[in-house]
Amino acid sequence: MYASEESWREVDAYFADTLVAEDAALAEARASGARTTLPRGEVSPVQGGLLSLLCRTAGATRVLEFGTLAGYSTIWMARAVGEGGRVTTLELTEQNAAIARANLERAGVADRVEILLGPAAGTAQRLIEAGTEPYDFVFIDADKPSNPVYLRAALALTRPGSLIVIDNVVRNGAVTDPDTTDDRVRGVRQALADIAANPDLEATALQTVGVKGWDGFTLIRRRA
Ligand code: DHB
Ligand code: MG
Repeated sequence: MYASEESWREVDAYFADTLVAEDAALAEARASGARTTLPRGEVSPVQGGLLSLLCRTAGATRVLEFGTLAGYSTIWMARAVGEGGRVTTLELTEQNAAIARANLERAGVADRVEILLGPAAGTAQRLIEAGTEPYDFVFIDADKPSNPVYLRAALALTRPGSLIVIDNVVRNGAVTDPDTTDDRVRGVRQALADIAANPDLEATALQTVGVKGWDGFTLIRRRA
């Protein structure tokens, strides 16, 4: 016996209203997502709450995000790092970055967030070459075919103890198909294989249901 998608959504809305009610800035950031290149791509309110809680639990003050869109998850993490913290977020398009800038301003965190424009793989490579101080927390949530590239970059930009979270690793169950021709699913599967083959990483994955349907996160801790 399993419940319908409608009841997952109801439960999600109930949890969100009860535990992680959005303020006006978050609500506006979510609404503005409709004007980005990926409407409704942002994490759900309870997922934003999870990112915040993980950042705070890790004591993260330096956060790196792959994929900004309207800056919804960026706001959650920027609030979690506190006034002295920094979030660097990588965004492909100026259209999305302009929307995100307004949202970050409205949320009162623009001064602690830097949006770096352009293909994230290239931007991350420049951060590596610049000898950027390690990040405490990385959220990978950009184009899915590039997940293995983003994971490799994240490993070059973190330290033992850092956490890395990858969004959208379930995709309605498609992740289990070894013969998939969907480059997004292939990107997820390759990243998972790379994690499994790396003895320096401790990782798990969680399926989620809710307002974004059936999807999930991979959570990774660098032990070395
Ligand atoms: C898609 C991307 C996301 O990051 C997400 O959370 C949901 C959907 C997409 O590419 O369709
Ligand atoms: Mg996502």
